[in-house]
Amino acid sequence: MRRPMIAGNWKLNLTLQASQDLAQALVDGLEDIDDCDVVIAPVYTALHQVAQVLAPSQIGLAAQEIFYKDEGAFTGAVSGPLVRDAGAQYTLVGHSERRQLFAESLATSNLRVHAALQAGLIPILCVGETLSERQDNRTDEVLIEQLEAGIQGLDENHLAQLVIAYEPVWAIGTGQVASTQTAQDAHHTLRTWLGHHDAQAAEQVRILYGGSVKPDNAAELLRQPDIDGALVGGASLKAESFIKIVQARA
Ligand code: PGA
Repeated sequence: MRRPMIAGNWKLNLTLQASQDLAQALVDGLEDIDDCDVVIAPVYTALHQVAQVLAPSQIGLAAQEIFYKDEGAFTGAVSGPLVRDAGAQYTLVGHSERRQLFAESLATSNLRVHAALQAGLIPILCVGETLSERQDNRTDEVLIEQLEAGIQGLDENHLAQLVIAYEPVWAIGTGQVASTQTAQDAHHTLRTWLGHHDAQAAEQVRILYGGSVKPDNAAELLRQPDIDGALVGGASLKAESFIKIVQARA
C-alpha cells in the first residue's frame, strides 16, 4: 500500500505573515491526520519561518524549485543544501511553470533531481502534456520523455523515494480538471513504464495528480488505483479547502 500524499504548491503567493498564518491553520486543522503525508511549498523567503510553525506537526515542507549547483557564482539561485538548511525535506522539480517560463529543460530537471537527492531532499518530479500535445495524441510520449529524462542515472534506492506528479498543463489553474479516467490512464502509463524499468520501484513510487484539484473533485480522483495523492495549487491557499482535500484522501 502506498501512503497517500497531499501537497500544496503555494507558488508566488503570500507574505511571510500570511504564510505563517496559513501554516498554523493547517497544523491546527490537520492535527489528527496520521495516515497521509501532507506537504506544503511556500515561497523561499518563508521557508525557514514556516518550518518553525510546522515543527510540532507531521506536515512536511517543500521548496518549489532548487538550482542544481550547491554554491558559487549563480546570482539569484537557491540550492538544495540551502533549502534543506531552511527546514525543507522536499522540493518540486520540473513544474510546468518552470519548464515554460524559466527555461527548465529535460536535462536540467534531471540535474535538479540528482541535486535534490544529494542534498537529502525528496524530489517531487512534475510531468505533464500541453493541450496541443494531447490533441496531437502525444500525451504518453511526452510523459515518458519527461519521466525518462528526469530519472536518468538514479539507482533503485533513490528511484523508490521519488514522488511523481502528473500535471496536465491544460488543467493547471484553469478550473478544467482532468476527468478521473484521463488522470488514471496517465498515471497507469507512467507506472507501467516505470515497471519496465524497475518493477519494485513502480509499486512504491507515489504518483500525485495536479491540475484544478478542489474539495469537490478530490475524492473521486483519489479513489483511482494509480492516483496516490494530489498536488494542489489554488485550493491550497485557503486552509479550509486544503484541509477538505486532505480529508478526501482514499
Ligand atoms: P492548480 O495548480 O491546482 O491551481 O491548478 C496545480 C499546480 O500547478 O501544481
